[in-house]
Amino acid sequence: MNVDFVLAKRVQQILPSPTLAITAKAKQLIAEGHDVISLGVGEPDFNTPEHVIQAAYEAMKSGKTKYTAAGGIPELKRAIIDKLKKDQGLDYEMNQIIAGAGAKQLLYNFFQVVLNDDDEVIIPIPYWVSYPEQVKLAGGKPVYIEGKEDNGFKITTEQLKAAITEKTKAIVINSPSNPTGAIYHQNELFEIAKVAVEANLWIVSDEIYEKLIFNGEHFSIATFGPQFYENTIVINGLSKPYSMTGWRIGYAAGNAQIIAAMTDLSSHSISNPTSISQYASVAALTGDQTVLSEMKEQFKLRRDTIYPLINDIPGFSCALPDGAFYFYINVAQAMKVTGYDDIDQWCNDLLEEEKVAVVSGTGFGTTEHIRISYATSLDELLEAVRRMQRFATKGR
Ligand SMILES: Cc1ncc(COP(=O)(O)O)c(C=O)c1O
Repeated sequence: MNVDFVLAKRVQQILPSPTLAITAKAKQLIAEGHDVISLGVGEPDFNTPEHVIQAAYEAMKSGKTKYTAAGGIPELKRAIIDKLKKDQGLDYEMNQIIAGAGAKQLLYNFFQVVLNDDDEVIIPIPYWVSYPEQVKLAGGKPVYIEGKEDNGFKITTEQLKAAITEKTKAIVINSPSNPTGAIYHQNELFEIAKVAVEANLWIVSDEIYEKLIFNGEHFSIATFGPQFYENTIVINGLSKPYSMTGWRIGYAAGNAQIIAAMTDLSSHSISNPTSISQYASVAALTGDQTVLSEMKEQFKLRRDTIYPLINDIPGFSCALPDGAFYFYINVAQAMKVTGYDDIDQWCNDLLEEEKVAVVSGTGFGTTEHIRISYATSLDELLEAVRRMQRFATKGR
């Protein structure tokens, strides 16, 4: 059977997640007995806090194992409202909150409920891998703005103004950024958001790395004033701050009508986020928060140790990331010296020859970069640096 004919057009145009693909390949090599260092996946390497695990256990034992409301249990929505009030000073009602199966599912729902065919969504490059694919799946068109490397990969208001057309419906802002770790400072964020609000765009503010900022502060666009609040959909989740990637709980806050539509969509697709994970998430959000600072300290130590070593590798250069747990490294010079013109091939050979899994920049929209995650032990990171050093200097 001709598969092109079988698959729906909207699915034919999407690419698989490159971060999950490289991780799968690394796992396969490990299963074959190879000593692979996996710097591909974006998840903290710490275990979920004990009191969160305990809350999940208690939820299971007390029969909280049934379907829940599609947009989440009231206790979780209340905990999210309290978090947004405490951390950002934002006020939301219950009908402005949805919990879902990860921030990823809520981003998906958002694009599904606001985009009509050919509506445009502005996405800064480099971008988190799923934004463009989700926009395309909703029938929309990603419009890219390239954040310049010498501007910390951040876009400017001039670039944004030039990209807006009458079809533009939304812009995605992800600060701190995956893959670059860059953060927008308050005035930069305000100026960009102002342009977006003046053009009456939805602002998708992906704040999932909010708790991992090493230099500077986090600002939510929704706090900049009533119109900013009205136009912004805050996206966040439990995966990164509480090391709960596998529990699959994220949340969104914003306009009640949009949230209602996103909830209806969930009711017909996932039904509800996992009941047990929801109770565990209430414990995470309302319980002891020291895990946040402990994890951040670990990440900072790794970042500060590895950063100079990366820049010492011939042909590698990267800026010190202000947040998240990634280095986005320009390897153009290393590729040139060793005879590569294709970054995917370079990453593939690095994995095959030195058994280090990194993600090629092509998944994030650039052609001369790699992303490495430092959500792994310092020993492994130091060994990975040694291997990359060898690879970068040996030639083809
Ligand atoms: C920028 C960004 N947004 C959203 C997500 C989705 O997170 P989750 O679906 O685990 O909540 C990720 C995960 O890697 C991410 O890096």
